[in-house]
Amino acid sequence: MIKKVSKSKSGLNGCINIPSDKSISHRAVILGGIANGVTIVKNFSSGKDPHSSLSIMRALGVNIEQIDASTLKIVSNGRLNKPQKNLDCGNSGTTMRLLSGVLAGQSFSSVLVGDKSLSNRPMKRVIEPLSLMGAKIESVENHAPLTIWGGNLNAITYNSPIASAQVKSCLLLAGLYADGETLIDEPFLSRNHSELMLEYFGADICAKGTSVKIKKSQLQGTVINVCGDISSAAYFIVAGLIVPNSDLILKNVGLNPTRTGILDVAKRMGGDIQILSQQTISGELCGDIRVKTSELRGCEISSEIIPRLIDEIPIIAVLATQAQGETIIKGAQDLRNKESDRISAIVTELRKLGADVEEFPDGLRISGQTRLKGDCELDVYNDHRLAMSLYVAGLVCDKEVAIRAFEWVSISFPEFESLFGQIQAN
Ligand code: S3P
Repeated sequence: MIKKVSKSKSGLNGCINIPSDKSISHRAVILGGIANGVTIVKNFSSGKDPHSSLSIMRALGVNIEQIDASTLKIVSNGRLNKPQKNLDCGNSGTTMRLLSGVLAGQSFSSVLVGDKSLSNRPMKRVIEPLSLMGAKIESVENHAPLTIWGGNLNAITYNSPIASAQVKSCLLLAGLYADGETLIDEPFLSRNHSELMLEYFGADICAKGTSVKIKKSQLQGTVINVCGDISSAAYFIVAGLIVPNSDLILKNVGLNPTRTGILDVAKRMGGDIQILSQQTISGELCGDIRVKTSELRGCEISSEIIPRLIDEIPIIAVLATQAQGETIIKGAQDLRNKESDRISAIVTELRKLGADVEEFPDGLRISGQTRLKGDCELDVYNDHRLAMSLYVAGLVCDKEVAIRAFEWVSISFPEFESLFGQIQAN
């Protein structure tokens, strides 16, 4: 589907609810599936990725009823059954990496498969430590399909070479089934939704700084209310900052400090962003954000903050084209291993629009402020975050842009276009 986007003339105004967090939705359906008893998940994501996790939990014998559009009732005795077929993770790295940890703890074998993009993504990062715990995993040179023979895991102490919540969560989930205490340390703290939710489900877990320890535990069913996704809010935050005459209120946004790097960076760049209210829901901080059009300046973004904004770098690059001076992003080499090579993809597409961008092995430099020309076709590299970032860029281009394969947004955010429609109409 080609999506045409043209310059926003009258600004973006209004108040919208930000839909469910993708990362938290994955964890809710997976933990609910391995917990004993009934788990209710409210505000489960409508994105395709969390639905891949849901379908796999069903294929593993868990009874999951979708009570309404966004509420799940999960009934489980805490045990999983050997699946009858390969488990399809679709485009979702979180599904494949988190579930490989769960499956490593089971006494049956199973096969995880994914689409073309996922089959090109590195899996050594989970295969290696799970093998150290005693799982046997066959792969295609450390890529999916992954055949996992689980059971009889032993705990390990693992110093992860990368700050990755998917790797950490995979090992925490395997740790639920391992004898002894599993300890994971990472170079910088990545998103900690697994730690918070495992504790919520009653696991014997203790997190301190960049380390987390877990002991064999049986989870108990509970009620999880999923907050809105700050990674989805990010497109509205940036659009609100760069489209002239904008004033937006974004409601119910997850504000877990391991995810709010985008807010810190946008404020450092001079963005007018206010947190209006905050509360804790199911162990996660969330609240309402107000954002207004701002005069922006470039800034430097380096390694220690990268895990807190890893998924926002393409949209931050768009933001930086509208800031005075240089924005330099460093230490983001893992961005090349996402749904697409996000460094090269955003550099190529922003250049088509007339931005001044330079590519580095571990990041990029954007010099602004540039007038984006538009009047071209853009590619999304089968990547939902590229599609949404380019849409926002289109709102400040002089002429219309046409974004090819825009349907990829439904991987994380099917409501994206209709929400933009609401604030443009206001
Ligand atoms: C995620 C962790 C991050 C992020 C991804 C979701 C998660 O990946 O990019 O979109 O839910 O744990 P890495 O752990 O590979 O950095």
